[in-house]
Amino acid sequence: MTKFLFITDLDNTLVGDDAALERLNQHLVKHRDDYGSIIVYSTGRSPTLYQELEAEKPLISPDFVVLSVGTMIYSYGSDEPNAAWVEKLSQGWNREEITAIAAHFSDLVPQPASEQTPFKVSYFVTMDAATELLPRLESALADQGLDTQLVYSSGKDLDILPRSGNKGAATAFLQAQLEMAPERTAVCGDSGNDIAMFESTQSKGIIVGNAKPELRGWYQAQSNPAHLYLAQSHYAGGILEGLKHFEFIEND
Ligand code: GLC
Ligand code: MG
Repeated sequence: MTKFLFITDLDNTLVGDDAALERLNQHLVKHRDDYGSIIVYSTGRSPTLYQELEAEKPLISPDFVVLSVGTMIYSYGSDEPNAAWVEKLSQGWNREEITAIAAHFSDLVPQPASEQTPFKVSYFVTMDAATELLPRLESALADQGLDTQLVYSSGKDLDILPRSGNKGAATAFLQAQLEMAPERTAVCGDSGNDIAMFESTQSKGIIVGNAKPELRGWYQAQSNPAHLYLAQSHYAGGILEGLKHFEFIEND
């Protein structure tokens, strides 16, 4: 066994089955102690909602946290997001112009203020409305020269992000910074905002068995998904199954 970079989404991926979470935690703590593996939480949650989850669930201390859908990277315990990442995402990003354009779309309901962070503008929108609205919003933003991307998750959450910032780009940034090979990286998720992590064909992707339709649909459309594993088990149980499948940890 050798060290690996473990990057997991939280809601409905790591978190969802407390007993399975405890089992996975034991494996991860031991792997970090024995081999120096690195543990990263990568969530859509803002700092406020991340702290709430930390207070509610027995999460082991990670080495890094990536918040607000890949747009904020923190060394664990630091209050300051990674400055190089902030600098990169600032280029060409104009929050005010984005919110002004989005205000013309009456089906977009703004998410709570805590979830509006420097490089993420978020709304709720139903699946029915989203089908027709997302392409129109995308063109409206592009017409104004705004280099953004739309990320739709769980049939309700819409995030507008800088083109260069999402969970996949944050993963690549950490791999480079930590000098960890993509092949020694496990990325885990359940919904639309995790797709960017699964797009790298070098990282090993673990899709938990309870994955949302938008991620399942994306997975089914992949022609060569050997770097991806769709687990049978749900939540942390699915992660454990995937870590064994890719031989990051031993079968018991
Ligand atoms: C989390 C965030 C929310 C975001 C969603 C999907 O729930 O709190 O703002 O839209 O993840 O990325
Ligand atoms: Mg999730």
